[in-house]
Amino acid sequence: MEAHEQTKKQNLTASNNYFDENEIEFERVTQLFNKRFTLVNNELYSLPKLNSIFKYPLWSVPELQELKKELNGVKNCLNNYDLDKWQLHTKLRNSAKNVIPRLKSNIQPELLTQAWCKFHEIVSSFPLIPLDYIWRNDNYFKSIHLCEAPGAFVTSLNHWLQTNVPDMHWDWTAMTLNPYYEGNSVSTMIDDDRFIRHTLDYWYFGEDNTGNIMTLNNFTGLIKHSVPHKDIFLVTADGSVDCADVPAEQESVLTHLHFCETLAALHLLAAGGSFLLKIFTMFECNTICLLYLLACCFTNVSITKPATSKEGNSEVYVVCTNFKRPVNITSYLEKLKEYYECDPKTAIFNESDIPRYFIEKIINCSNFFKTHQCSVIQNNIDTFNNYNYDAFLSMRQIQRSVADKYIKDYKIRKLGKDEEIIGNAIMSLKPANFNPCKVSMQGSYNERCEKQHLAYFDRMESFYKDIEKVEIYLSHNDIKKVSYLFEK
Ligand SMILES: C[S@@+](CC[C@H](N)C(=O)[O-])C[C@H]1O[C@@H](n2cnc3c(N)ncnc32)[C@H](O)[C@@H]1O
Repeated sequence: MEAHEQTKKQNLTASNNYFDENEIEFERVTQLFNKRFTLVNNELYSLPKLNSIFKYPLWSVPELQELKKELNGVKNCLNNYDLDKWQLHTKLRNSAKNVIPRLKSNIQPELLTQAWCKFHEIVSSFPLIPLDYIWRNDNYFKSIHLCEAPGAFVTSLNHWLQTNVPDMHWDWTAMTLNPYYEGNSVSTMIDDDRFIRHTLDYWYFGEDNTGNIMTLNNFTGLIKHSVPHKDIFLVTADGSVDCADVPAEQESVLTHLHFCETLAALHLLAAGGSFLLKIFTMFECNTICLLYLLACCFTNVSITKPATSKEGNSEVYVVCTNFKRPVNITSYLEKLKEYYECDPKTAIFNESDIPRYFIEKIINCSNFFKTHQCSVIQNNIDTFNNYNYDAFLSMRQIQRSVADKYIKDYKIRKLGKDEEIIGNAIMSLKPANFNPCKVSMQGSYNERCEKQHLAYFDRMESFYKDIEKVEIYLSHNDIKKVSYLFEK
């Protein structure tokens, strides 16, 4: 009798645990898809006076500097970790790890990359495509994609349009660092031209053919190239460069690129249009000023981190909808354009020009994303140092649930051949092969910093050791060519 009671009790506890675990998993997955913060929702902000633009020194907000210190403190714990091993560990623990394989086997989207998944999440979760305006514009929709190589935002947008509004007349232009321009450094450029090579007419590489959006001539060229056509209702700007060697200053390194992307969008967009901008943290004065500029120009501004964006990094997207085209915007943009090519050492706006209420929103928003990022990094550190089988199993369950939710919530279906832009079959005909030599980052961040302080000969020796580890990828044809040369 006693044994029977005990078994009953045990079963009850087990089933309660089961429900608790299910609930925790459900909460965790829901949270992952809800990392967003509303910065502007119909509030009216006014543009600061024209004569204060770039007139005052850079300023800082103590609360934001404190958050920056805390985030960098957690990131610094990673300085001794071997980059390759750490990346493998975080890849295996990525909650969205199963999304790409699942899409690949069930849907086979064109140019499926992490960017494809992120864009699809954003376009499905926010009113990024202003359908009312487009219908009033003879159903014609033009989008511009800045910093876009290899082009997955474009293929992802096509997938969404074909699925949701198939009768729309859509046209697009993309601009990016030109992968065929030899002067562009490999570290800033994406050398994957599988899509670009078949859609060259849609890519604009600027007046100097570099594709660099940060050159004033290329900027004015882009406006001339795009504006004579019908109204532009979407601009995306996904620019970034590798900051692995300055992880603590990623925001400052990229602020000026974000300034140029924002200026381009504000010049290009028609009233009612949307702007999607990738940024990283928002601790510094000129990021706050850029966000304030966007707050004055759009009815709604939200910051979101898609579930398919790597959880441990600082990347977030600013989603701006319903461009208000303020009356004085043209003279404003002209003034801002004067600073297009010089990375300014002064503040875009003075601190007193930005309402404290807005700055407090930025503090709360930064805190929200920083807390999330720190807890993910800390979790990854704990599991890197102590392997736990139960935690591994629950991670696997979360990875399955995230992929299920992604496919179900965003109603992703397979496209027909005539709905694709060029199709996977054409894209995979000739794999890109213009950079067969891939140098991986070697060792930890601290080891790489130490190497910079070595004496001349020690540096040379370390360089030769690194060269020995360089991986060279050769295709079957390349191998045949090389062996032919040796035979000769
Ligand atoms: C994360 S990738 C963009 C991915 C793209 N949205 C997609 O969906 O495939 C960042 C891109 O920004 C580009 N980029 C960086 N700096 C740039 C600049 N100054 N001008 C133009 N493109 C730039 C890089 O070459 C790279 O192609």
